Amino acid sequence: MTDRYAVIGNPIAHSKSPRIHAAFAAQTGQDMQYDALLGRLDGFAETVRDFARNGGRGLNVTIPFKLEAHALAHERSARAEAARAVNTLVFEQGRIIGDNTDGAGLVQDLTHNLGLTLKGARILLLGAGGAARGVILPLLQLAPTSLCIANRTVARAQELQHEFAPRATSMGHNCALIGCGYDDLAGQSFDVVINATAASLSDDAPPLPAGLYAPHAAAYDMVYGKGRTPFLQQAAADGAEILADGLGMLVEQAAEAFTLWRGVRPNTAPVLQTLRAELSVS
Ligand code: ATR
Repeated sequence: MTDRYAVIGNPIAHSKSPRIHAAFAAQTGQDMQYDALLGRLDGFAETVRDFARNGGRGLNVTIPFKLEAHALAHERSARAEAARAVNTLVFEQGRIIGDNTDGAGLVQDLTHNLGLTLKGARILLLGAGGAARGVILPLLQLAPTSLCIANRTVARAQELQHEFAPRATSMGHNCALIGCGYDDLAGQSFDVVINATAASLSDDAPPLPAGLYAPHAAAYDMVYGKGRTPFLQQAAADGAEILADGLGMLVEQAAEAFTLWRGVRPNTAPVLQTLRAELSVS
C-alpha cells in the first residue's frame, strides 16, 4: 500500500508542500502520496488522529496549528521543545512524534545554498514570536560570535535572551546572546540580519536604524514572494550585499521532514530552481 502523508493547515489551498514532496518522491523513487489537508479550526486533533488511523504515516503542520501539534505529540525532539512548536509529525505504532524542521531548513539555506559562514559571525534576529523562537537554537549551534534578538516589544526579546542564555553558555562557544529593541541597534553592525517578524505579511518592515550591515553582509527574510519584501528593499538601500527570501527555507524544511520520514535525503536544488522560476513569472 502507498504510504500517505499530507500538510495540514488553515488555509491550505495555496500550499507548495504537495508539489515539493511529490518532486522529492519522484526524484528518490519513493512510493508515497502527499496531499493538502484543510484542518478544522476547532478539530485539529481529531483530523490528525483520523489521518493516522487511515494509514497516514506523517504530517507537515502549518499555520495556525504548530502549537496544537506540539501539545498533541506524545514525544518531541529537543529542537521541537526549544521551538515550542511542531511542524512535522511522524506516526509510529500508535504514537505521535513531533519534530520541528524550520530551524534546520533556515540553517541549510543560509550555509549550503547561500554559502554563508556563520561561525564567528554577528547575527541579528528580528522578531520574538514563534518564527524567531524556532531558529534560535539551530543558529546558536553554528557558533556565531553574537546573536542579537531585537523586537518591537522589547520585553519579548529579553524573555528569549533569558530563556536561551543557559543553552548558549552550555554550548561552550562564548556566543553573546542579547535581547533588545530596534532603537538599541543604532551604531551596531552585523554580518547576517534575519527577519523573523510578521511585518512582511502586511507589506511592512521593522523600523531599523541605518548602518546595520557590515561589509559583505547578508539580509534574509523568512517570508517569500514575487518581488523584494519591504525588509529586503530596506536592506538593499542600507548596503546589504546578499539578499535572500524564505523560499529556500521552505524547500529545505520540507527536505528535512522528507528525510525523517523516508530515510533518504532529496536534492533540493532542482526543486528550488523550479519554484523560483514560477514565482518570477507569476
Ligand atoms: P510568528 O509565529 O509568525 O512569529 P507571532 O508570534 O505573532 O507570529 O510574532 C510576530 C512577530 O512579528 C513579533 O515579533 C511581532 O512583534 P511584537 O512582539 O512587538 O508584536 C512582529 N511584528 C509583527 N508585525 C510587525 C511590524 N509591522 N513591525 C515590526 N514587527 C512586527
